[in-house]
Amino acid sequence: MKKIAVLTSGGDAPGMNAAIRAVVRTGLDKGLSVMGIQRGFSGLINGEIFEMDRRSVADIIHRGGTILRTARSEEFRTEAGQKKGVAILNAFGIDGLVVIGGDGSFHGGQALSKYGIKMVGIPGTIDNDIAYTDCTIGFDTAVNTVLDAINKLRDTSTSHERVSIVEVMGRNCGDIALYAGLAGGAESIIVPEKGYDINLLCKTILEGKLRGKMHNLIIVAEGVGGANEIASKIEEVTGIGARATILGHIQRGGSPTANDRILASRLGYRAVELLLEGKSARVVGVKDGKIIDEDIDEALAIKRSFDEKLYSIAEALSY
Ligand code: F6P
Repeated sequence: MKKIAVLTSGGDAPGMNAAIRAVVRTGLDKGLSVMGIQRGFSGLINGEIFEMDRRSVADIIHRGGTILRTARSEEFRTEAGQKKGVAILNAFGIDGLVVIGGDGSFHGGQALSKYGIKMVGIPGTIDNDIAYTDCTIGFDTAVNTVLDAINKLRDTSTSHERVSIVEVMGRNCGDIALYAGLAGGAESIIVPEKGYDINLLCKTILEGKLRGKMHNLIIVAEGVGGANEIASKIEEVTGIGARATILGHIQRGGSPTANDRILASRLGYRAVELLLEGKSARVVGVKDGKIIDEDIDEALAIKRSFDEKLYSIAEALSY
């Protein structure tokens, strides 16, 4: 192993830069040449590849986004696109590839590994929807961004004695809603893993009001969606004012938290170590505080389980 490359793909996540920095500096520290691939698999196909040095990753550990840019490539989903990618990697003499991204990016890396490319994946997505790891890079920052918004919405919800419905990202995974909802003391958390009953929701709001609650915070995961419709229905049934806020891409940006920077640094370091150990088709992650690695096929086959216990805690504490 003499030359490795790194790319970021799919939705960006705070902490991706810290992971790039870790890969580049670990590689250089161990005597490798390190190349950066711009715009994910789309840039790979177009040969957007450049050499990186220690200074290329200076001053980025605290920045959100990704200095390598990112993309979702339709062409790379095809066999022809993947073969192009393999040819480019071979033409540049790249012996090992680090892919930083979510589930879709891992499928891209997995496809390359089937053509003999040595690759290691690092989980970078705000969604926390990758089952083999306890946490993905960017999740902690996104939860804290949502928490900040919830704190602010609580103020105005209390002043006006209104219901505030906050829609958060997470695709089909309710983790951002669950964690931010618990941390923010939300009255109700609506996630795709559990669903909801609008009548029960309205009853809970009215009961809360009778017990003297001045505000009512409802967190809805995007996998359920419909924050505006939920707000209208609540107003209609309870007669209490309701406002919806869809946080959107705000959740994808911002300076990564210490947890995300540390996780990214540990995972980036381990990814390069694995390539140097001759391993391929592996993904790195964290389990009970320890850095682990898994076979990519097995990792992608694991079904995510929802944290029922955490959901029950949030429910019990919300009255
Ligand atoms: O996967 C990260 C994510 O932010 C999801 O939570 C969301 O569904 C999606 O990406 C949005 O994608 P786009 O960047 O294409 O709007």
